[in-house]
Parts: sequence; C-alpha cells; structure tokens
Amino acid sequence: MDRNRRLVNYSLLALTGTGVYYTVGTMFQSLEPPKKALLDAATYIDTTALPLNEIAYFSWQKKPLFILKKDATLTLDKKRDIKIGDYYYTVMVGICTHLGCVPKYNASLKRFICPCHNGQFDYNGNALASPVTKPLVIPPFKVHDEMIIVGEVGEAYLQLMEASKA
Ligand code: FES
Repeated sequence: MDRNRRLVNYSLLALTGTGVYYTVGTMFQSLEPPKKALLDAATYIDTTALPLNEIAYFSWQKKPLFILKKDATLTLDKKRDIKIGDYYYTVMVGICTHLGCVPKYNASLKRFICPCHNGQFDYNGNALASPVTKPLVIPPFKVHDEMIIVGEVGEAYLQLMEASKA
C-alpha cells in the first residue's frame, strides 16, 4: 500500500473512532435521567403546614397540583380522600379533564371552575357540570409520616385506585 493511501486509511479510521465514541457516549447519557428530571420527579408536601379547608397549590412535574386538607365540616369522599392523623386530604392534578386548561378555585362557590369552557368540579375534584365528565386526576402519591410524596406510589394511592373502580 502506498504511503498516501495508508495516510487516508488512518484518517478515516480516526474519524470513524471519534464518531463511534461520541455516538456511544451520547447514547449512554440519554439513558440516564437528567438531574433536573430527578429533582422534579417527586413533590414533598408537609401536611402539617397546609391550611385547613382551603385549597393549597403546588406543582408536580411542571403540572399544577391542588391539595385540600379538610375536616368533617366538608363533605368527605371515600373514593378520593386519604386520612393522615386527624384530617382528610384530596390530592389532585390541576388540569381540566376536558381539554387541559387549569381550573381556578372559587372559594365562595366551593368549586373549581375551568376558564376555557366553564367546566366545573367540586372541591374533591369530582366533575359537576358539562363539558367535564371525569374527575380531576389523582396523581400517584405515597404517605410517609405526615408527608405526602407526590410522584411515588404508596399503599394509600393503591387503595384509592381500587376504591374508584368499585
Ligand atoms: S378545558 Fe376545561 S372545560 Fe374545557
């Protein structure tokens, strides 16, 4: 093989090697969840700090999250409430189940009203008025002591999912 041809072959080999190195490196990087995603994966809520019988607002994975801490003066909902200590909690993703707008809570009417097509939900997240027909989604969550961890699946969540089928 002449000298020039060998030089071309070595250059091609070096270029191919570099390409493989970056391709494989990028492939493995894409398999790892980005650090930001890990931070956003769960939302930790200290229930002792929540106001009673009012909606508290959080976010989970960039979605609005509504949490109602209530006592027996409000209507309880066995299919949607969990009990922690002396209080009941309803955890809801704050996205309208019609077409995805964010409902606003009207405290005097005690219901969520969607600004897009006037769909309405009660404070437990149940659909009340057309065009909504499905309740606000309960996100996966876990209870640890007096903390609700949204984004992890726990026993209380599984029980609610089971109860909602009945
Ligand atoms: S998006 Fe909420 S009622 Fe249509």
